[in-house]
Amino acid sequence: MYLTPEEQAMYDGKQGSAIEKSMEILVALGDIYEAGKMVDISSAQISGVSYKTIGDAGLEYLEELATGDVQVKVPSTLNPAGIDLKQWKELKFPEDFAEKQKRIINAYQMMGISTTCTCTPYLVGNVPTLGSHIAWSESSAVCYANSVLGARTNREGGPGALAAAICGKTAEYGYHLDEGRKANFIFELETTLKGSDFGALGYLVGKIVGGGIPYFKLENTPSVNELKSLGAALASSGAVALYHVEGVTPEYNEALKDVEIKGTERISVTENEILDAHQKLSTTRKKPDLICIGCPHASLDEIKNIADKLSGRKLTTPLWVCTSISVKAAADRMGYTKTIENAGGKVVCDTCMVVSPIEDLGFEVIGVDSAKAANYVPSMCGLDVVYDDVENLIEK
Ligand code: F3S
Repeated sequence: MYLTPEEQAMYDGKQGSAIEKSMEILVALGDIYEAGKMVDISSAQISGVSYKTIGDAGLEYLEELATGDVQVKVPSTLNPAGIDLKQWKELKFPEDFAEKQKRIINAYQMMGISTTCTCTPYLVGNVPTLGSHIAWSESSAVCYANSVLGARTNREGGPGALAAAICGKTAEYGYHLDEGRKANFIFELETTLKGSDFGALGYLVGKIVGGGIPYFKLENTPSVNELKSLGAALASSGAVALYHVEGVTPEYNEALKDVEIKGTERISVTENEILDAHQKLSTTRKKPDLICIGCPHASLDEIKNIADKLSGRKLTTPLWVCTSISVKAAADRMGYTKTIENAGGKVVCDTCMVVSPIEDLGFEVIGVDSAKAANYVPSMCGLDVVYDDVENLIEK
């Protein structure tokens, strides 16, 4: 792999040991994937934040790295943590978990990484432009950045994204290259979709394409929130990092140029298949004892929608609306948080139903409107899920 003289100096340790270790990671990845060179990145988004997922080994690694003078070279943001950093006591997260979580956040902060703790950084200022190279690691955010924004990133692991943030570079392979962004499946919808149908579609298609690139011909135009749900589902039931929607996403015109899609890779999706995917996403018919909305983290629009539905009502089941601190600040100012709290719900920041230790809080069945959450809550938290539209969940 070709390195410029500056990159070679970084690799040789002339800019300190943290940069040397980080370049070693990037060069190793580049060698594995046969990258020709490095590219400069404009931003990083780093996973490996929740104490639940990285444990003591991750905490120690980060604290060791953060004791030096290392600072990230590009604007960088963090994925959700395991607790709401402000309301963790009220939400009854265990104290020892919270203490370790705060040390992890502190280590990242010492490296100059913005502790926004969200999987929707594109809603809070980390917004890459069309064609820009970035190194993001949260799979739903990767899917959104590649597909909806037309930025270019591979599905980085946490250490790879952190190394890229420290060096301001990443190895050029995969989704960074034009040829890595062509579609290899076409899905034609025979029905219109709304709300949680987009998650069901993503769940169904992710299982078929694995790490492929689907091209969708939809009957109706999805909203930005629906594209967010679709990508999260594709990235969790499969390993999708990029999808195209005809007439909607910025690179759909290029996606089918000079590629041959075989008959078996042209697939029609019927209404019944969407209904079937809905059913498969629920693991029980029991009533949820907690409803969790905001996977990926809720936008202000989504919070407004919930507040409108709850105005003047009292919930019979506890509700968490998960989002970032920045979106919550806007929801507070607009009065949406107050309306949700008056109904008995909470707007929860910095964390979510998957990466928090929700299984230690006594809940058994979680109601979700996210196919990604429905996929992960049983495996990562050991709890049952009910998958449905937000309207139905908060009516029950
Ligand atoms: Fe975000 Fe947690 Fe879902 S990190 S995408 S809300 S599983």
